Amino acid sequence: MAVVKPVILRSLNRSLRNISGKKSPVIAGHKLLYRCNLECKMCPFWRREDEELLGLQDEIRIMEALAHAGVSFLGFEGGEPLLRRDVGEILREAHARFHTSLVTNGWLLERRLPEVAPHLDLLFVSLDGVGEMHDRLRGIPRSFERAVEGMRASRSEVPTLISHTVTKENLDHAVKVVELAERLDIGLTVQVAYDYTTADPMSPDRARLRPTIERLRDLRKSGAPLMESVGYFDAILDSWYEGKPWRCKPWLTINIDPSGRIVMPCYVLQEYQGSLPVWEVDVRELWNRFDWSTYESCNKCALACYLEPSLFRWTDFEHLRERVIEGGLNYVRRSPRTTTRPSPGGLVQIEPAA
Ligand SMILES: C[S@@+](CC[C@H](N)C(=O)[O-])C[C@H]1O[C@@H](n2cnc3c(N)ncnc32)[C@H](O)[C@@H]1O
Ligand code: SF4
Ligand code: SF4
Repeated sequence: MAVVKPVILRSLNRSLRNISGKKSPVIAGHKLLYRCNLECKMCPFWRREDEELLGLQDEIRIMEALAHAGVSFLGFEGGEPLLRRDVGEILREAHARFHTSLVTNGWLLERRLPEVAPHLDLLFVSLDGVGEMHDRLRGIPRSFERAVEGMRASRSEVPTLISHTVTKENLDHAVKVVELAERLDIGLTVQVAYDYTTADPMSPDRARLRPTIERLRDLRKSGAPLMESVGYFDAILDSWYEGKPWRCKPWLTINIDPSGRIVMPCYVLQEYQGSLPVWEVDVRELWNRFDWSTYESCNKCALACYLEPSLFRWTDFEHLRERVIEGGLNYVRRSPRTTTRPSPGGLVQIEPAA
């Protein structure tokens, strides 16, 4: 008898629910910690002092709750997820239940690769520019070198993508990063920095950003290994420069903080943070009670993890072809599967709470 992965059954089940008008999350993002070994200018997370980590058993309770809510894709991030000693065990549990991904700054990647690669479907390594530009934005010398060494090691073990954040200081590096991805023979994904109140304001001026977005869209059209669809870049241009908004659907993605609580309506706005861990919440009930309508016209951020799913429609064949067929082929083709700040090069210091 054919074996059907639980994640596929969940997708079918969720599609039926969505057709019936009920909302449920498809993708989950989970911060394993806030702590980090780098100090990026645009990032609020390494500055937080309210770290509260969960142990493996509670991480599994989060996964069970997410699976029950209908989630199929679970992405881990932070802070720096590779700082956690138990990240390999957490990923093993996650991979049995979901399609998995992880985003890292790459500093510890080479060392921790054997623990994490077998349990990942996709790995993102952040790169904010080439050479000194990346090190300046990340606040620690040799960050660029370490990230590239990590990617050279990981690309033959797990499909690997560069994650590039466009800020006001690196607008002229986007094309260089695309060229680097081509030289490394891997894909890349792009996002525009959002100004968090607790980080340095780094989002680019909209007028200065426009040529970069147009250039990236043209590179995507001509076959550059960008994961975003042409529609993604068009949606940014239409909304931010032509006054034609996309309809944001933040409910497609659920966010879980390091202590297991749900952050809503989205990763960026963080207006609602429940007091209970997700395993004590009826997610489906909350999802269908919450008033999402005010966020549909928000368009404040252009995070691909929200914007791309918001654009997705099974009836839009062009987007389906680009996003699902070409996007998938792109990365598979390019990546064959075969409470002291920790010092960047130091041993993994984080002890998860019992
Ligand atoms: C918060 S980091 C966590 C994972 C890991 N430490 C890393 O840097 O990849 C996840 C992603 O968010 C991006 N990021 C950081 N600050 C941002 C901001 N203000 N706006 C948009 N993206 C941001 C980073 O560049 C990184 O690609
Ligand atoms: S490496 Fe990631 S979590 Fe750490 S400061 Fe930079 S963006 Fe933030
Ligand atoms: S556009 Fe607004 S509601 Fe949508 S994900 Fe971005 S900040 Fe959140």
